Amino acid sequence: MYRAVNEIDMGTDLEKVLVSKEDIEAKLVELAAEIDRDYAGRDLLIVGVLKGAVMVMADLARALSSNVTMDWMAVSSYGAGTKSSGVVRILKDLDTDIAGRHVLIVEDIIDSGLTLSWLISNLGSRGPASLEVCTLLRKPEAAKVEIDVKYTGFDIPNEFVVGYGLDYAEKYRNLPFVGTLAPHVYGG
Ligand code: PRP
Repeated sequence: MYRAVNEIDMGTDLEKVLVSKEDIEAKLVELAAEIDRDYAGRDLLIVGVLKGAVMVMADLARALSSNVTMDWMAVSSYGAGTKSSGVVRILKDLDTDIAGRHVLIVEDIIDSGLTLSWLISNLGSRGPASLEVCTLLRKPEAAKVEIDVKYTGFDIPNEFVVGYGLDYAEKYRNLPFVGTLAPHVYGG
């Protein structure tokens, strides 16, 4: 067994743990059981959105008891560093033609919802048999656009969170839990 970064290793950088490793694991097992049931007898393609969704994809996929195929997209918001502009460009497209396929987009977090809204309309135009969304985290208070999300792990407050795929300046993605950082980390 490996030894992951823990709360003590984080020292004063960590403000609080919002979702523990155990709660994430339990929730993904629950969501995987729902997905297994809903897609029984159908071929499912799960699409992870890089880089944040790497952890969710890895753990969710291993909690599924049916075979799935996996593909990845990398997208980036256009423009002057405003990540939630809603104008998105594709850095890496799918390797797979999704026409006629059952597709489940897997995200780490839905913040404003703009990235996903764009992604749903982009992938939707490719003629999938079905297109649904699974996200580990969602910030209802930050939503700028309503998205129909079939599988949600946790609704969280509108705070900046890191860990389990989520970064601050590319750090903290490898934390096994989701938490908030102390203000001094941001130079506050
Ligand atoms: C994060 C996250 C979502 C998006 C959500 O990705 O993984 O894709 O932001 O934000 P929104 O709902 O406001 O559009 P980010 O752009 O930080 O890239 P990363 O996954 O590579 O860290």
